[in-house]
Amino acid sequence: MGRKMKRDYRVKRVPEYEIDAPTAKQIVALLDENFPDTFDGRTYFKQLPHFRYLAFDGETVIGQAGVDHRVIRAGGKIIRIFGIVDLCVTPTHRGVGLASNLLKQIENLAAVSNVDFLVLMGDVDALYIANGFQHVGSAMTKWLAVEEVESFSLIERDLSYCFLVKPVRGESWPLGPIDMLGYLF
Ligand SMILES: CC(C)(COP(=O)(O)OP(=O)(O)OC[C@H]1O[C@@H](n2cnc3c(N)ncnc32)[C@H](O)[C@@H]1OP(=O)(O)O)[C@@H](O)C(=O)NCCC(=O)NCCS
Repeated sequence: MGRKMKRDYRVKRVPEYEIDAPTAKQIVALLDENFPDTFDGRTYFKQLPHFRYLAFDGETVIGQAGVDHRVIRAGGKIIRIFGIVDLCVTPTHRGVGLASNLLKQIENLAAVSNVDFLVLMGDVDALYIANGFQHVGSAMTKWLAVEEVESFSLIERDLSYCFLVKPVRGESWPLGPIDMLGYLF
């Protein structure tokens, strides 16, 4: 039997504190499958997200995106963001728009919320550009390095190769140094 493309799924938004143990176990498995040797049995890499969008096929978690709601400083302005974390889709359900759907749902929520920009660190440009994200022209960024679940140091680095943003209401990104006011998701 060839590779099966699955289109039937449902998506649920869940606050992090409501995620029960069986669902957490499935999230660990999904993250491990999609980001091998990274999560070390946790549902998060650096820190818990505030909420997640979970995609289910029946009772099985087949995709997810975490969202970190915070303020950051960019070009001297304080802006409110939804940071998108650890977006992934299980291989059997890829290529049918599930990741794009998760991004759209986050965008729709931002559109009715007090949020200025969606922000993510991405290495799959084609997916994010197709979904309206753009690289920022300059991204000298400061953040709190967390390693092995321990605060480590402050890092400052140019992240323009991976720092992607999408305005929620058409505003332009305030160019200039970026301070994540916390860990880098
Ligand atoms: C990247 C990932 C989330 C994409 O999920 P998906 O549900 O298949 O994505 P979509 O179907 O919404 O893709 C939409 C478009 O994005 C592009 N795209 C998606 N994944 C891509 C990839 N790995 N490489 C290049 N382009 C990609 C394609 O243009 C695609 O359109 P097409 O199917 O018409 O060609 C999935 O492959 C995955 O989980 N990969 C492993 C984890 C990962 O790398 N996550 C992203 C971290 S930044």
